[in-house]
Amino acid sequence: MIIRPLTVYEREAVRDFYLALVPDDRRKRFCCSLSDETISSYVDRIDFSRDTILAAFDERAQIIGLAELVRGAGAGEMAFSVLPDRRGQGIGTVLLEKLLMRAKICGIRKVFVIFLSDNTPMRRMATRAGMTVSTVDGESHAEREMSAASAEDLTRWIIEDGLSRSGYFGTLGIAHWGSLLNPCANASPEPPKTPVPVA
Ligand SMILES: CC(C)(COP(=O)(O)OP(=O)(O)OC[C@H]1O[C@@H](n2cnc3c(N)ncnc32)[C@H](O)[C@@H]1OP(=O)(O)O)[C@@H](O)C(=O)NCCC(=O)NCCS
Repeated sequence: MIIRPLTVYEREAVRDFYLALVPDDRRKRFCCSLSDETISSYVDRIDFSRDTILAAFDERAQIIGLAELVRGAGAGEMAFSVLPDRRGQGIGTVLLEKLLMRAKICGIRKVFVIFLSDNTPMRRMATRAGMTVSTVDGESHAEREMSAASAEDLTRWIIEDGLSRSGYFGTLGIAHWGSLLNPCANASPEPPKTPVPVA
């Protein structure tokens, strides 16, 4: 599975992912029921240069999970969504681990996530990641302080980020990209020429 940060050019993929969620999954993700219009305007406001939108891709380069880290004044807010048929396979946990690392690299000193109190998978993910969970009026809040990034963290992030990008292009098919860049590669081969004798 490839996991990498999305760029501003992938806003429509984020929109498609969220709009495809059924009402109950929208409620779990956003802690309230949202119409298509509200989701769409939320996606329009995503700031890809300030915030981190991590996507998990399947082998057909389709997004199967999204994780967001939105930078606030004193802390970063995280949020997660994995497609229903891909849940329970550890994707949410990997997205959380990568987002925590991203927060560290960005110098964010505290992260939190808000979820409905009956959301067992999110609670388990947060607890396992060392977050402290508190609940008020049916809504849970999990938070964790972040240590400063070490040189080792930074190196690991750069290597993993680079590998995920190369892996992504691999999933799209290097051959396909090659043929776009070099259309002649698809043309029918010329018949072999009779060798010209060297004088
Ligand atoms: C929360 C969510 C992202 C988790 O994604 P996931 O890929 O299923 O997560 P994982 O497979 O890593 O599982 C996380 C934990 O939940 C547990 N879990 C998974 N599905 C479960 C289920 N149906 N019931 C109970 N526990 C479950 C796993 O066992 C794991 O716990 P563990 O680490 O103690 O073993 C996913 O359920 C989801 O998209 N939910 C809708 C959106 C949402 O709730 N977002 C959170 C608020 S922002």
